[in-house]
Amino acid sequence: MKGTLSENTVRYCVFIIFLYVFHTECYNNLVSSYFLQESEPQLSQAEKQKQSIQEVRRSLPIFPYREDLLAAIREHQILVIEGETGSGKTTQIPQYLLEDGYTEGGMKIGCTQPRRVAAMSVAARVAQEMSVKLGNEVGYSIRFEDCTSERTILKYMTDGMLLREFLTEPDLASYSVIIIDEAHERTLHTDILFGLIKDIARFRPDLKVLVASATLDTERFSCFFDDAPVFRIPGRRFPVDIYYTKAPEADYLEACVVSVLQIHVTQPAGDVLVFLTGQEEIEACCELLQERCRRLGSKISELLVLPIYANLPSDMQAKIFNPTPPGARKVVVATNIAETSLTIDGIIYVIDPGFCKQKSYNARTGMESLIVTPCSRASANQRAGRAGRVAAGKCFRLYTAWAFKHEMEETTVPEIQRTNLGNVVLLLKSLGINDLIHFDFMDPPPHETLVLALEQLYALGALNHLGELTKVQKNYKCSEEILTIAAMLSVNNSIFYRPKDKVVHADNARMNFVVPGGDHIVLLNVYTQWVESGYSTQWCFENFIQFRSMKRARDVRDQLEGLMDRIEVELCSCNGESAVTAGYFYNTARLSKGGYKTVKHQQTVYVHPNSSLFEEQPRWMIYHELVFTTKEFMRQVWSRPSLCSSF
Ligand code: CDP
Ligand code: MG
Repeated sequence: MKGTLSENTVRYCVFIIFLYVFHTECYNNLVSSYFLQESEPQLSQAEKQKQSIQEVRRSLPIFPYREDLLAAIREHQILVIEGETGSGKTTQIPQYLLEDGYTEGGMKIGCTQPRRVAAMSVAARVAQEMSVKLGNEVGYSIRFEDCTSERTILKYMTDGMLLREFLTEPDLASYSVIIIDEAHERTLHTDILFGLIKDIARFRPDLKVLVASATLDTERFSCFFDDAPVFRIPGRRFPVDIYYTKAPEADYLEACVVSVLQIHVTQPAGDVLVFLTGQEEIEACCELLQERCRRLGSKISELLVLPIYANLPSDMQAKIFNPTPPGARKVVVATNIAETSLTIDGIIYVIDPGFCKQKSYNARTGMESLIVTPCSRASANQRAGRAGRVAAGKCFRLYTAWAFKHEMEETTVPEIQRTNLGNVVLLLKSLGINDLIHFDFMDPPPHETLVLALEQLYALGALNHLGELTKVQKNYKCSEEILTIAAMLSVNNSIFYRPKDKVVHADNARMNFVVPGGDHIVLLNVYTQWVESGYSTQWCFENFIQFRSMKRARDVRDQLEGLMDRIEVELCSCNGESAVTAGYFYNTARLSKGGYKTVKHQQTVYVHPNSSLFEEQPRWMIYHELVFTTKEFMRQVWSRPSLCSSF
């Protein structure tokens, strides 16, 4: 027994040792193979990514023209560059210039974008292509958000931000190149930049000016810039079949949803891009699509629904660029931001209801309106073009061929001809440009719009009788409150959250903020309570207030406070009313049958049902702005009994 036992023990020990050795061996193998598997691909993945980014850069239509383009820039001070959307103008040209030495001696290359989202997203892309951290060598600057540093040499910014830079650096001395990108959009700020930059280019012969545009209007740009040469980048464009509806669509939102699902079920692989006019429509469309997909369940393959519009948080914006997983289809629901500013790879199908939101301005009445209008034929063609970038595509126009021909304008009217010019006049005056009538506009604004802007600034005391800027020094001893109100007005349309399924709760929460005096004081009240909560997220959530908007208002307020500090305006607090009245006396309306009449133009206007004064209907009102949506509404109104005595 003993012998057997010990024999067994030995056997057992041997077995254990064997197991141990085997196991360790195995384990080592496993560990090493595990690391091998992990580490090798990991390294090569980073490499691969770098390689593939360089490959993508080389595959862009602009790449074969790199040398010619750089030669043309060396030869000419001002160059107009025309290229199909997605050819690489915005992301590549600044990098080529950098590689060609234009940032030597600490000089910067500036590139303007009409849209905030585009400035941010393009800067992020270029930082990635150059393997640098966003905000270091490559940065962006948009209103109330500066993502640049002393190291920044490629700076993307909104056209409005470059305009402001003229205030601190009138000759843009720190820039070696200015690229006015997306010039065809003809935004107000871009148009003003044209005039200013043309002017400084005359006494800064070392400054290079590039005017980049989609395939539109380039002859006009060339003509404006004293016959500057046009450099054309031939596009690679696949054919796009265009389909029209037989009859006009009564509900284009519903038609979009149906079309997306039809494409998804009947058409071969390829992503879809839908053009709608704004956030509300886009959210509604996305919700409808998601709901119908849920109902269809496993009967259809996966449909990824992604919105994109200016106010969408940037992490959500970035999602539209993620590659579509195999077997799934992506649908991007966008404003006309996706028309030329952003290029999303993989789009084969475009759905175009043919509308956009457009600002218009009536200089006679001072009424600004933002209404959904048919887009131009030029816009419609750009939209269709988005379908043919990677392969032959299809564009479904949700309007008739007749409407395209007869109901759409050829091109969009430049913004300068349909907007209030108050702020721009103030800015140009601050730059010392007094004679605005003879400013070098590519398309001058209507005479009466300019005159109205001057008249309003004169009435406010910002201009003297010679039309020169005055120093408005009046201090109504309530700058604290005015700062808050101004900051809140800047985010004004997105403070109250009103989800569809909790409308009653949201409206009740909103009513709790109502205090006598009007909407400005309501905004002040919301902000003050938020400060008291310690800037709490939870507080916002409980009160149906958008935290993001409040945070933005706080940023804006901090920056305004900094500005006040710089110009040495003392900060003090009172109850804010006299200053609002003084600043807004121009915007006064009197109660009259069925609505209000503006004092200045006897125009009939209405109080918005969302306003805290909707029920009250006081005799006199002051409004922040007049906006036509479904009716002529006064937005953000204010009333004091003492007002009556002022008139
Ligand atoms: O300015 P342009 O329309 O000529 O083209 P771009 O904006 O420079 O885009 C060139 C390419 O960069 C596009 O084809 C996109 O594939 C890519 N890109 C991207 O992947 N992500 C971005 N945020 C921007 C561009
Ligand atoms: Mg571009």
